[in-house]
Amino acid sequence: MENRRPLIAGNWKMFKTCPEAVETARQLVKLIADNTAVDVMIAPPFTSLMPVSDVVKGSCVALGAQNLFWEPEGAYTGEISSAMLVSGGCSYVIIGHSERRQYFGETDITVNKKIKAAIKDNLIPVVCVGESEKERESNDTFSVLDKQVAKGLENLALSDLETLIIAYEPVWAIGTGKTATSKQAQEIHQYLRSLIEKNFGNNLANSVRILYGGSVKPDNIKELMLMPDVDGALVGGASLNAETFSKIVNFQI
Ligand code: 13P
Repeated sequence: MENRRPLIAGNWKMFKTCPEAVETARQLVKLIADNTAVDVMIAPPFTSLMPVSDVVKGSCVALGAQNLFWEPEGAYTGEISSAMLVSGGCSYVIIGHSERRQYFGETDITVNKKIKAAIKDNLIPVVCVGESEKERESNDTFSVLDKQVAKGLENLALSDLETLIIAYEPVWAIGTGKTATSKQAQEIHQYLRSLIEKNFGNNLANSVRILYGGSVKPDNIKELMLMPDVDGALVGGASLNAETFSKIVNFQI
C-alpha cells in the first residue's frame, strides 16, 4: 500500500472573531508542538487568515481557506481569489463543502472551476463530496459520488491533480453527532479511490489522500484511521476547541 501521510484538517466554518481565532491557533500550536506524525491544517474564516498565518508560521500547522472564487480578479463584490488566499498565507483551500452546495448554490460545475483556479496558484484543493440522508436511503450514494467526482474533476489532467485531496463528508453525518461507522467510511473511500483509478489511473488512486468528515471526535478518530483507505479527517465542531482538536491530531499517542 502506498505511504500516504495523514492529514487532520479543521474547518472552522463561520465561527470565531479575529482575536478568538488567533487565541485558538496559539493554543493549538503549543498543544501539538511535538507532532511530526501527521499534516495539520486549519481553515479559519477569511477575516482571520492573515493574523492566524502569523501565529502558525514555523509550526506544523498549515493554513487553509474555506472557499474561493475562480476568477483571478475583477468586479466581483464579496469574492476572494486564489492569489489573495496565497498572499494571506494559505496553502490549502476547501472546495465544494456541502454547506456551500446547500446554501450558496455551489454545483459540480463551480467546484470544477474553483479546483482549476486553486491549482493554477498552487493551492492544495480539498474537494468535498458526499451524499445526503435521502440519497443514502434511496440507494443513490454511489451514483451521487460518481457524478460529483466526474463533473468536479472534468477536464483536469493527471498532472493537475498531484496534490488533490478528497474529503468524503456524508451530509447526514455533519454536525449531527451521527458518524459514519468506520466500515461505512472504508466502503465509500475504497469506492472513491476506485473512481480515481478508473478516471486517472493507478498512481493517482494510490497517492490521493481521502479524508473523512462528519462528527469526527477524539473518541472515534482512531477507529476511522485504522481503515486502509481513510487518510485523515476534515473536522468541523471538534476543531473549534484547541484541546479537543489536539487530541484528534495526536490520535496515535
Ligand atoms: P462536524 O465535524 O461538525 O460534523 O463537521 C464536519 C464538516 O463539515 C467539516 O467540514
